[in-house]
Amino acid sequence: IEKYGYQPCVNIGTAGHVDHGKTTLIQALTGSWTSVHSQELKRGITIRVGYSDAAFYKCKNCEEPLGYSTTPKCNNCGGESELSRVVSFVDSPGHESLMANMLSGSALMDGALLLVAANEKVPRPQTKEHLLALQTLGIQQIVVVQNKVDLLSYKEALANYQDITKFVKGSHAAKAPIIPISAQSGLNVDALIGSIESNIKTPDRDEKQDTVMHVLRSFDVNKPGTKLKNIKGGVIGGSLTQGIFNVGDEIEIKPGILNEKKKNYEPLVTEITSLGTAAGIVESVKPGGLVAIGTKLDPSMTRSDSFIGSVIGKPGTLPENSTKLKLDVTLFDSAVGTTEDIKVQPIQTGELLRVNIGTAPLLGKVTKVKSKNTEIELRRPACIFEGGNVALSRRIDERWRLIGAGIVG
Ligand code: GTP
Ligand code: MG
Ligand code: MG
Repeated sequence: IEKYGYQPCVNIGTAGHVDHGKTTLIQALTGSWTSVHSQELKRGITIRVGYSDAAFYKCKNCEEPLGYSTTPKCNNCGGESELSRVVSFVDSPGHESLMANMLSGSALMDGALLLVAANEKVPRPQTKEHLLALQTLGIQQIVVVQNKVDLLSYKEALANYQDITKFVKGSHAAKAPIIPISAQSGLNVDALIGSIESNIKTPDRDEKQDTVMHVLRSFDVNKPGTKLKNIKGGVIGGSLTQGIFNVGDEIEIKPGILNEKKKNYEPLVTEITSLGTAAGIVESVKPGGLVAIGTKLDPSMTRSDSFIGSVIGKPGTLPENSTKLKLDVTLFDSAVGTTEDIKVQPIQTGELLRVNIGTAPLLGKVTKVKSKNTEIELRRPACIFEGGNVALSRRIDERWRLIGAGIVG
């Protein structure tokens, strides 16, 4: 859809406990409700990572933070504002059972908004777990959002603000601003935009580096009954972390698809037939925002997110598929995702862990532990970048819990 004429330049994620108002805030900022799947509507929770874009404007004549808005007309003085940035939002699910999805989305975030509902005790379990997840994946640029202040008196809101300050103390969000808002009534959203503009910077991008795209979605865009000659090839959605893609480029997708006979994964090579971003149908894409790549692949292959976790680059430029993961591990003191914190025991040889590598959640068996060095045999191959951040989860009391961080060595 032609919205702003510019591809977004930065991905801003949401984080925070279930129902604290993440999707409501994204709606307030972008005008669209990102949780549109039937199960999400039925259960009232976000399940899949959502995304939507917004343009931020700044009025020259109004004092900060009054002049910030998402329309070219200043909400404060009615004058004309200037475009500040086009941004993209990656909306996480907050439910405790959906940490894998949250971590996949976090792989694409350049910065994040940590939402804390002001009418609940601080912190709730996923407030803590999501903050740790952001830390694990190296997301430094954080704005804390104290939401639902409309439900509190001024005095209660101040007390809650103090609780949030105490909670973030000592964490990597200690220096993050805390902005009180009501997402539902749009209260103080201008101040939040101002804070995003000054605290979440657009990363430096090098277009000359080899292109890397992490896949978050894949689709078959054809309606049932479409005539063969009108069938469109498989569409893959995700975000570039470096480089560019042009229509007509040959691309390689890893790990690719399972060759049933050989029992291994084979990378796929195809061609980009079209490119879509928030700026509409374009000839070329760069990092920032979700991009959709039209390919020559059989659309049945890309149906229902089958390519989530894949990595796309130009042929021959990506790391080889591998099932061997060598990590330098830092374990947390405790697993924080439940009401009670549970002490994290050392990793044992032979145990099953879940590792999130990029947008891919993968299971693997620990084959070797030597102090911080941990080797894991993955159940299926992945395209693994040296130096990358990996989130480690362990099954505790029937749920996967984040227990530590790893760096690929
Ligand atoms: P998950 O994605 O499932 O984790 O939830 P979420 O964090 O996206 O929360 P969501 O936006 O779905 O909002 C949860 C509930 O809180 C909804 O009923 C919202 O209407 C309500 N809500 C969100 N923001 C506010 C607010 O500022 N004030 C009040 N009073 N209610 C709010
Ligand atoms: Mg939501
Ligand atoms: Mg909800």
